[in-house]
Amino acid sequence: MGNKAHLEAAYKNILVSEIDNGKSLNVGLIRLNRPEALNALNIELMKEVVETLEAFDRDIEIGCMVLTGNEKSFAAGADIKEMADASAIEMLLKDQFARWDRIRKIKKPVIAAVSGFALGGGCELAMSCDLIIASENAKFGQPEINLGVIPGAGGTQRLTKTIGKAKAMEVILSGRMFTAKEMSDAGLVTKVVDPDIYLDEAIELAKEISSKPPIAIQLAKECILKSLDSTIESGLEFERKNFYLLFASEDKAEGMKAFVEKRKAEWKGK
Ligand code: CAA
Repeated sequence: MGNKAHLEAAYKNILVSEIDNGKSLNVGLIRLNRPEALNALNIELMKEVVETLEAFDRDIEIGCMVLTGNEKSFAAGADIKEMADASAIEMLLKDQFARWDRIRKIKKPVIAAVSGFALGGGCELAMSCDLIIASENAKFGQPEINLGVIPGAGGTQRLTKTIGKAKAMEVILSGRMFTAKEMSDAGLVTKVVDPDIYLDEAIELAKEISSKPPIAIQLAKECILKSLDSTIESGLEFERKNFYLLFASEDKAEGMKAFVEKRKAEWKGK
């Protein structure tokens, strides 16, 4: 049994649950739960999110995670009220966005299920996930420019790498909100769906991913993320080494044997 302490923890700003997936690995669900502040990401909330993602990552019964907010808001950004009076040195010493780097180290895939506002840090949090399923009513944006600052949790980097310089300049310099369709056309969003089903759709995708061989899933994710900060040559080398590494796994032996024997593979995660 994996350690399930995160399911019992008394979090103040998030709701945590595990969704059964039959014979396959389960799905970990995190719901941001500060509706009175449109799920603004204060320091405490982000601590809870990161610690829970790490706990699900360690849990051998979980294959994939879904991170969501509520219908009105995924997250309306970093908590402005918490930062309003802070000095530069206080911000530097607190270094609150350093914690976000730990999301980059999560090995299992994380899906953002976005409805309503995904603004500033909310958009950056969705981009820190591996896939984004968006409701038709979702609104993405980096409005920091309207506060006299710039994105501080990866927006200038992740958005540019994902949708390119031309569009990232428009999003960040205008501070405007963009529809799910616009952000899907730009390549930020995996899929746009009806508002009634955005969470179900994300959970279904998470269940599908959780039914695949977990080591291959984790290495595939690692290789794709590697491509964002490597040359094509070193990225290809990284991919090839990981491809060869998978030949040491029992799941590779089972997957290829099952294909030859025309039956469904049974994964062990080994
Ligand atoms: N921080 C703190 N509180 C926030 C918040 C935020 N980012 N966004 C919304 N809230 C609060 C509001 O202050 C309000 O609280 P009160 O009822 O106590 O006044 C409550 O949530 C509801 O918000 P509104 O009344 O403003 O709701 P609305 O429907 O009229 O407007 C909105 C919605 C357009 C999203 C508007 O709330 C808004 O513009 N929010 C700020 C968006 C923003 O600028 N985000 C970037 C933050 S900076 C950042 O994220 C830096 C980074 O890179 C990490």
